[in-house]
Amino acid sequence: MAYSGIVPAYQRRGIYGAFLRAFLPYLHALGYERVTSNHMVNNRLVLIAKLKAGFFITGVTLDERYGAQVTLTHFFYPDRRTGFARAYSVEDYSGAPDYRGLLTN
Ligand SMILES: CC(C)(COP(=O)(O)OP(=O)(O)OC[C@H]1O[C@@H](n2cnc3c(N)ncnc32)[C@H](O)[C@@H]1OP(=O)(O)O)[C@@H](O)C(=O)NCCC(=O)NCCS
Repeated sequence: MAYSGIVPAYQRRGIYGAFLRAFLPYLHALGYERVTSNHMVNNRLVLIAKLKAGFFITGVTLDERYGAQVTLTHFFYPDRRTGFARAYSVEDYSGAPDYRGLLTN
């Protein structure tokens, strides 16, 4: 996904969240395996909206135009989500939030 935006007068009304709830299943039905996107680190609204929609933080890059970027990935298939969680989860005793519930979605 790249360069999506909501007209300012209509922001913060749930339009983007509703768009993701419709668009992601559509892409899944088309056969896509994953969706990735890059965001400026201070764009809290889009980061929160994407995390709520099931995206994971999968990388950080430096862009010559926009500076530090967070890469987000939405895995459509549970085995991909499980593989990602296995690779990067910390042990239970660390006090980290348990997000394994996301793996069954
Ligand atoms: C980022 C953007 C696309 C989000 O669109 P939006 O329609 O405003 O987003 P939503 O209203 O669906 O809100 C998404 C989340 O933001 C938060 N949010 C919504 N209204 C809020 C408010 N009044 N106060 C604080 N947070 C709020 C919530 O976490 C919300 O999730 P929820 O609906 O599950 O509670 C939009 O703000 C935008 O176009 N920004 C400028 C362009 C841009 O930055 N695009 C992305 C480039 S990578």
